[in-house]
Amino acid sequence: MTMTDDYLDKVYRLRTDAERRALYDDWAGQYDGDLTAQGYVTPARCAAVVAGSALPKDAPILDMGCGTGLSGRALAAEGFTRIDGADVSTGMMAEARKSGVYARLIDLSGATAPANHYAAVVAAGVIGTGAAPPDVFDQCLDLLSPGGLFCFSFNDHARAVPAYTDRLDAAVTTGKARILAQEMGDHIIGLGSRAMVYLLERQ
Ligand SMILES: C[S@@+](CC[C@H](N)C(=O)[O-])C[C@H]1O[C@@H](n2cnc3c(N)ncnc32)[C@H](O)[C@@H]1O
Repeated sequence: MTMTDDYLDKVYRLRTDAERRALYDDWAGQYDGDLTAQGYVTPARCAAVVAGSALPKDAPILDMGCGTGLSGRALAAEGFTRIDGADVSTGMMAEARKSGVYARLIDLSGATAPANHYAAVVAAGVIGTGAAPPDVFDQCLDLLSPGGLFCFSFNDHARAVPAYTDRLDAAVTTGKARILAQEMGDHIIGLGSRAMVYLLERQ
């Protein structure tokens, strides 16, 4: 088993936030190389979905769970110019800082992201078993004013856990958000994993 398989295998089996944070801190230096080698396409898929909306290119965007910056770089590649990042892993954010795409990086272990400031929140590869807990779904929506956009992915693991999918169902049935688009596709090609990318509008 390679180191890549090792991290990617372990991450879906960790159960506590503290365990996951420690793993991401540890993984940060080789995360980009590992994920790129495995064909991790969800950041580019999310960025393309946001770019396909009416969102102006200079609208303020929060990259929630920005990690090392792969998702911010994908947004920048689509032409977006005002991107902030937020994450709980200081190791991942140290790498994100080097990417140069973020105007501001918010360390969620000691601060919160400002509400009603962002026109869109993107959480690529973030909300699911291997990363953030289900309540991050509502945290993202609660940062937005009506009309704000929320783009996120649920991979195969998240789609199999009602604690995650129930958040989406509840947001839609209570009228908190409506689904503008949803698209199934590859997640990590080398693992054969898939993800649904959603674009929601806050109501
Ligand atoms: C698989 S990585 C994805 C990073 C980046 N979005 C990408 O596409 O490469 C998941 C990220 O979620 C972060 N994360 C975990 N729990 C979180 C939380 N409660 N709030 C925000 N980010 C969190 C992890 O630290 C990690 O950087």
